[in-house]
Amino acid sequence: MTSPIATPGHDRLLIIDFGSQVTQLIARRLRELNVYCEIHPYQTVDEAFLKEMAPKAVVLSGGPDSVTREGSPRAPQALFEMGLPVLGICYGQQVMMHQLGGKVESGHGTAEFGRAYVTPTEARLDILKGWFNEGREQVWMSHGDHVSVIAPGFEVFGTSPNAPFAITADPARHFYAVQFHPEVHHTPNGAKIYENFVRLAGFTGDWTMGAYREEAIAKIQAQVGDAKVICALSGGVDSSVAAALIHEAVGDQLTCVFVDHGLLRLNEAEEVVGMFRDHMNLHVIHAEEQELFLGALDGVSDPETKRKIIGKLFIDVFQKYADQIEGARFLAQGTLYPDVIESVSFSGGPSVTIKSHHNVGGLPEKMGLKLIEPLRELFKDEVRALGRELGLPASFIGRHPFPGPGLAIRCPGEITREKLAILREADAVYIDQIRKHGLYDEIWQAFVALLPVRTVGVMGDGRTYDYACALRAVTSVDGMTADYYPFDHTFLGETATRIINEVQGINRVTYDITSKPPGTIEWE
Ligand code: XMP
Repeated sequence: MTSPIATPGHDRLLIIDFGSQVTQLIARRLRELNVYCEIHPYQTVDEAFLKEMAPKAVVLSGGPDSVTREGSPRAPQALFEMGLPVLGICYGQQVMMHQLGGKVESGHGTAEFGRAYVTPTEARLDILKGWFNEGREQVWMSHGDHVSVIAPGFEVFGTSPNAPFAITADPARHFYAVQFHPEVHHTPNGAKIYENFVRLAGFTGDWTMGAYREEAIAKIQAQVGDAKVICALSGGVDSSVAAALIHEAVGDQLTCVFVDHGLLRLNEAEEVVGMFRDHMNLHVIHAEEQELFLGALDGVSDPETKRKIIGKLFIDVFQKYADQIEGARFLAQGTLYPDVIESVSFSGGPSVTIKSHHNVGGLPEKMGLKLIEPLRELFKDEVRALGRELGLPASFIGRHPFPGPGLAIRCPGEITREKLAILREADAVYIDQIRKHGLYDEIWQAFVALLPVRTVGVMGDGRTYDYACALRAVTSVDGMTADYYPFDHTFLGETATRIINEVQGINRVTYDITSKPPGTIEWE
């Protein structure tokens, strides 16, 4: 059984995960209401777990299974006898009905996927405050099974053409069950349901980044004592916020190592080191190991081999510098909550490695260091809010993600110093264009990839034979899926002209319009 990671002193809400694709969105909606919540897979939640975590309310997520199937997931029966408010979503609704004495049936013409409209019945319900102002509400449905008989004590408060029991509740016991997904954007008024639910469950909205900052600092001080902490600083949002927070807690006991692998963007090392060292007074070691990395990558073109070389060298280099810091006992990492949530696996099989990701995994054991992960309970936008609390400049907090292997995976094929220099210039022009047009914050990630192709062009009276590059810009929520950004043609034309005019070595610019899946965001 996993144990709850709840931060003590806060009202807590438990989300029992039955494997829906959108369970994390439930947590997002609740955190936006300043409610501390945790997601735990249904297999790990039993009566003892509920008692230990002592949540103030519980949400049962959706899920892909059918409660009519023998052996399908259930909530612990004890949950319904603890006097806690419970909100069941989709599969969660069906589980509630089934376990509380109602009936669920499979498919046969009553499945509903996509947009639907719910209309109210005569009765009024507290969690629907602010709903039905226009007479009906748009909701997002995604269910094959449906409730055919509601459980004793429940009443119907809303119906849709294919879900006569779209909203049901037993208000006396504070049990609420909806067939649709209030957490997704396609249920435009869905957040209201969560807001009403947590208000009537007595949550005070005590989860704010201001409060978290104070608590996290006290916790780090208690954990670290007078020992030393080291942190691999990349300049990305997560490691920057983690370093700033730890620095505030233990000051000079923190040393950051910034590994310069020669695969950074234009002026990036100077900017990151300058900001942390000169403006924030952090102790930063600038590990200038460009020669080592570029030497090891010489002549290597296979993407996975490149990643492996960089990942291994990164660990070696980090360890070399860390070994020089006497008395270091802790390694700080910017692990976030989405990395910690255990997902519900139905296939049970191993998943294929698409790309081996680059981090300092395995190092703490090897070096005998203890991990400190002060962002473990936070989602990305909470990390940004915490960064603002800590006074990090907006330009740092809003930075696009940058991969550990850096420009190596934006330069398909063999890497040379010449190619890297061209890529850096082109990338800087492209990002400058995006900023000038006020598009930077709308885009999840944008960069140039330098293609391993030379093409013929004509400039002035002469023939050119230079590299082609691809511009990439995507929108995404978490990097798991992504859409290409729909720039207008004037922007694309202007950017292409600037790159060709300003960057020597590129004579052709293309725009990558592949979504993820089937593409990935990076080119390698
Ligand atoms: P892909 O290319 O897999 O990338 O669609 C998804 C997101 O992850 C970033 N990325 C990495 N980040 N180490 C990282 O820290 C890596 O090895 C790595 N590879 C990809 C990528 O930039 C995008 O944001």
